[in-house]
Amino acid sequence: MARSLTSLASAAPAQVSRGGTADEELRAGLMAAVPTISPKYLYDSLGSSLFTAITLLPEYYPTRCEAEILREQASRIAYHVGRVESLIDLGAGDCVKAERLFPVLQPTRYVPIDISADYLNDAVARLRHAHPGLEIRALGRDFSHTFDLPESVPAENRLFFYPGSSIGNLSPDEALALLQRIHALCPGGGLLVGVDRVKPRGVLEPAYDDALGLTGAFNLNMLRHVNTLLGSNFRVEDWRHEARYNETESRVEMHLRAAADVLVKWPGGERHFARGQSIHTECSYKYTVDGFADLLRRAGFGKIQHWSDRRDWFSVFSARA
Ligand code: TRP
Repeated sequence: MARSLTSLASAAPAQVSRGGTADEELRAGLMAAVPTISPKYLYDSLGSSLFTAITLLPEYYPTRCEAEILREQASRIAYHVGRVESLIDLGAGDCVKAERLFPVLQPTRYVPIDISADYLNDAVARLRHAHPGLEIRALGRDFSHTFDLPESVPAENRLFFYPGSSIGNLSPDEALALLQRIHALCPGGGLLVGVDRVKPRGVLEPAYDDALGLTGAFNLNMLRHVNTLLGSNFRVEDWRHEARYNETESRVEMHLRAAADVLVKWPGGERHFARGQSIHTECSYKYTVDGFADLLRRAGFGKIQHWSDRRDWFSVFSARA
């Protein structure tokens, strides 16, 4: 999958999501007492395109709220983050969000990182054309467990950009661990991160279960992706998308629920799912301003500042390492 990206970044593993570890992780998740598939498998090429379509839905407010903040607070944000030599975009996707920041942040170097290497590759080809003066070092890899940066990305003045409330897709413990890793990688630099806020169920649930069914398609597409990776025989028509807000845990929980009794097989294993049983695919944690600022402080960040949209539905935090 990362074939063409290897020419852009020799440090990137050649096969981003096909290694033995991906298979083991998938098998372990499917066999677990609470069956799970890691949300990173949402983003094959089709999944990434479906997610881009989701961001255009009237129900899916986070992208628009965040864009509003980045647009209207751009100069304040630029002032707070200071000089940016390398803009490191975690989960860059189509790179459009970071691109909008180029004029205000004026980075020397742009380092987009995304697990969906093919999708990223197309975006980077377009960017090179539109910004010929910008140095671009694209990395097709999974940064959810560990990551380091090639030596060609100097340690000075790094700004990590983690938009889209993707941090909410990690548990608070995992989010803390990621923030600590980022903190260690940007001495003297900083982090700009988008965070979705706690809000009423009536706003949250439709954002993750839209009337057109795009979010359902996005979640279900994961089964096709898993079939490709693992050689399993999931049938999309046997499963239904479900999204529920768990108020106690402050998170929207995404599931794929079996609409019939199904036997799923893959090389070396199988699992029976009774009708109504579900596979947990993703959580999207929602934070209060104080809750997230506290997480940043525990990760070692200081000088924490945040900006919100006019409805206070979403916040962008800037923090210095
Ligand atoms: N980062 C997105 C979010 O939590 C991911 C997402 C949006 C998502 N809609 C989804 C993941 C539906 C799974 C299913 O807002």
